Amino acid sequence: MHKHAPKIVCKGVWKIFGDHPKRILLSLDPGWSKEEVLERTGHVLAVRDVSFQVREGETFVVMGLSGSGKSTLVRCLTRLIQPTAGEVLLDGEDLLRLEEKQLRELRRHKMTMVFQHFGLFPHRRVIDNVAFGLEVQGVDKAKRYARAQEVLEIVGLKGWEQHYPGELSGGMQQRVGLARALAVDPEILFFDEPFSALDPLIRREMQDELIGLQSQLQKTIVFITHDFLEAIKLADYLAIMKDGEIVQMGTPQDVILHPANEYVREFTEDVPHSHVVTAQAIMRAPEPDDQPDRCPAVGPETTLQAMVALAAERGSRIAVRNENGDLLGMVTRRSLMLALAGLEVD
Ligand SMILES: Nc1ncnc2c1ncn2[C@@H]1O[C@H](COP(=O)(O)OP(=O)(O)O)[C@@H](O)[C@H]1O
Ligand SMILES: [Mg+2]
Repeated sequence: MHKHAPKIVCKGVWKIFGDHPKRILLSLDPGWSKEEVLERTGHVLAVRDVSFQVREGETFVVMGLSGSGKSTLVRCLTRLIQPTAGEVLLDGEDLLRLEEKQLRELRRHKMTMVFQHFGLFPHRRVIDNVAFGLEVQGVDKAKRYARAQEVLEIVGLKGWEQHYPGELSGGMQQRVGLARALAVDPEILFFDEPFSALDPLIRREMQDELIGLQSQLQKTIVFITHDFLEAIKLADYLAIMKDGEIVQMGTPQDVILHPANEYVREFTEDVPHSHVVTAQAIMRAPEPDDQPDRCPAVGPETTLQAMVALAAERGSRIAVRNENGDLLGMVTRRSLMLALAGLEVD
């Protein structure tokens, strides 16, 4: 398969909760809001005609306030629930037509999920929690322990193998959840607000960790969050949901620069520092493959806001030069996003 072929295709997906979802869908007045549908029919329009594609190796973030339909959408993508209408293709294969057995195979090998509440088994040691997916696959004990050990090291939990989840902090428990998801080496990872229950500091640490992991692993990721800063930090591509609908989709830069409506604009106002932090503050030393001559150039005092505009139009790196044109440093898309999210640039 082509490296950049769509890995996940979601086409016109609807989910309506209630006694007669299909009938309601057929008789739905397109002008009705979610609230009106509820008042008039007693049905909940949780996901409304959602379409998008996720390419292989991409991190696709779905962001929206609580109740906007994010969890329902991700459950449709994994078929934990059956959509009322629409299509979900994984590598071109129609997920909704799969038999129970094929679905089980898919969940064992191809995709894993990480939730807010870690879902660990309290009576099993950390290593057995991590090895669980492999155990289900029927991998023998020595092999699955070796693999579990490996991923525990990757997520920074070496030495905790024999402990029980209850002995670990929230952040560590979520690392165990992450390790368990990674242990089966899935092609697709679904995250539903995995860091929302963690303290801000730990949350940032986990975000950085995920970015670091993803730069090595290049998995296809669908990440759900209600936190706009988390969204712009992690996303290659971002969808913003309201009342079950996607109201805007684009790169973080697109969304920050050109919010589609008032709802989105309010989130972008949370982005701190964009008018005060400068290129100088976040640039790093040039590296051999930067090709500064091919990048747009800015002065050291240029603000994040202005650089975001440039990056949106002209690619992912920016050269910082003084008045004489001497190269002072480079700003990458990642450092720009980190700075926008109010985080220290490493
Ligand atoms: N099983 C269900 N039955 C009825 N309504 C539901 C059910 N699950 C979710 N909902 C409703 O669907 C909407 C979307 O919920 P959800 O997907 O959980 O949103 P989010 O994850 O963005 O907070 C909400 O209005 C919620 O109350
Ligand atoms: Mg949710």
